[in-house]
Amino acid sequence: MAYVHSYGCQQNVNDGEKIRGVLMDVGYGICDNVEQADLILFNTCAVREHAEQRVFGNVGALKRLKEKNPRLMIGICGCMAQQKSVVDKLRASYPYVDLVFGVDGIDRLPAILAERIRRGKRYLQDPVQRDAVVEEMPIRRDSGFRAWLPIMYGCDNFCTYCIVPYVRGRERSREPQAVLEEFQSLVAAGYKEITLLGQNVNSYGKGLAEPMDFADLLNLLCQTPGDYKVRFMTSHPKDASHKLIDTIAANDHLCKHIHLPVQSGSDRVLSAMNRHYTSAQYLELIDYAKEKIPGVTFSSDIIVGFPGETEEEFEQTLELVKQVGYMQLFTFIYSRRGGTKAAEMPDPTTHAEKAARMERLLRTQDEVAFPRIAAMAGQTVRVLVEGCGRTPGTLNGRLDNNLVVEFPGGEELIGSWADVELTGSRAALLTGRAVTNA
Ligand code: 5AD
Ligand code: SF4
Repeated sequence: MAYVHSYGCQQNVNDGEKIRGVLMDVGYGICDNVEQADLILFNTCAVREHAEQRVFGNVGALKRLKEKNPRLMIGICGCMAQQKSVVDKLRASYPYVDLVFGVDGIDRLPAILAERIRRGKRYLQDPVQRDAVVEEMPIRRDSGFRAWLPIMYGCDNFCTYCIVPYVRGRERSREPQAVLEEFQSLVAAGYKEITLLGQNVNSYGKGLAEPMDFADLLNLLCQTPGDYKVRFMTSHPKDASHKLIDTIAANDHLCKHIHLPVQSGSDRVLSAMNRHYTSAQYLELIDYAKEKIPGVTFSSDIIVGFPGETEEEFEQTLELVKQVGYMQLFTFIYSRRGGTKAAEMPDPTTHAEKAARMERLLRTQDEVAFPRIAAMAGQTVRVLVEGCGRTPGTLNGRLDNNLVVEFPGGEELIGSWADVELTGSRAALLTGRAVTNA
C-alpha cells in the first residue's frame, strides 16, 4: 500500500494524483493512513520556508514507523527535491529516507522503485531539470466532479522573491490538442468543474508550432458541449489581456471570477519584485473587467514585508485592496528563499512589524469583503455541491465567484449542481437554502 501526501499548490495536487496513478499501475493500493503503508511519498512545496520546515518535521516523525517496519520505503519528491541544499540535508541527516526525486521524475517512478529494491540502496537523485512535457501519464483523481488540468509547466518570470522558476524549470506549454483531449475526456466522464493550471496561464502558447494564446485555448476548450464550468489559475497581470477579459465575458462556461495576484500596491515594490506592471496598469485591467463582465469578482495573492517595504508602501497595498474590492485574498509574509534575487536585498523590517502589517491587511480585507458578501443575500445562485458543511446536516456549495455557501441538504447531492437562495452570511461564509436541484 502507498500513502501519498501533496503539499502546496494545485499543480502539486495534480502531480500527486499522477503519482497515485503511476503507483496503482504497478500494483500498489492507495491508503490514507501512514501506519498501513509500505511506501510513503511526500510531494513537497518549496515556495515558503514554513512549508519546508513542516515537511522536515513530518519526515522526522516517520522514523519510528521505519523502525517498526524495516520494509517501509520513504520518499521525498516535488519542489523541495529540486534544491541541492535539501537533497544534501536529506542525504546527511535523514538516513531512513529511501527515495528522492524531482518534479520531472513521476513517470520514472516505477524504474526508481525497482532500482531501489534491486540494489537495496537509497536512491537519492541530485536535482536535474528535464524540462520535458510528459503526456499520457496514468492518473487517479481525488474527485469525481472537480478536476485539475495543467496546460503548461514551469515559469520564466523570475519574480525576485520566488523559487518556482528555479525548481520547476522553464516555461513550456502542452500542445492544444493534448489539452483538448484531456478536457473532453473529463467532460465525458461527468466532471462539472475543470480548473486549468499553470504558473502563468496568460502566457500559454509560447514556443508552440501553431500560434495560439490563452484566450484562443479557452475558446477551443469551451466549444466542448456539456454542463460544466471552467476556472483557471494563475494569471499574471502583465500578460492578462483585454482579449482574455472579452473571452470571459462572452462564454458561459467560464466562471466570472478572476484570480489576479497583485502581490503589492506599491510601484517601487512591484518593480523590485520584477513584476512588470504598475498599480495603475493593474487597476486599468480590473476596471476593464468590471465594465465588461457584469458581477465579476476578483481574488489575489499579496506578499507583506517584501525586503525594504516601507510603511507608506504597505499602505499603498491597503489602498489598492480597497479600490479593487477583492472577494478573497491569499496573504503571505515574505519568506526568504536562498538563490533568489530578493534574498540578497536588505530587509530591515522585523518579523513582528511584518506580522502587524499582516493583521492590518487581513482586517482591511474583512472590512472590504464582508459587507459585499452580506449584500448578496436574496440572490439565487447555482452552486456546485462540494461536500458536507461544518454544521451537521448541511452541505457546502461553491459559487461561480469562488465563495462558499452552507445550506441544509443530504449527502446525495455532493458532486451535482444546486440552485441555492442566499439568506445571509457569517464572515466570508454564505448561508442559504436549496431552491431546486438543477
Ligand atoms: N514569500 C512569500 N510568499 C511567496 N509567494 C511566492 N514566493 C513567496 C515568498 N518567497 C506567494 C506569492 C505567490 C503565491 C503562490 O505565493 O504571493 O503568488
Ligand atoms: Fe513565481 Fe512569479 Fe513565476 Fe508566479 S509568475 S511562479 S510568482 S516567478
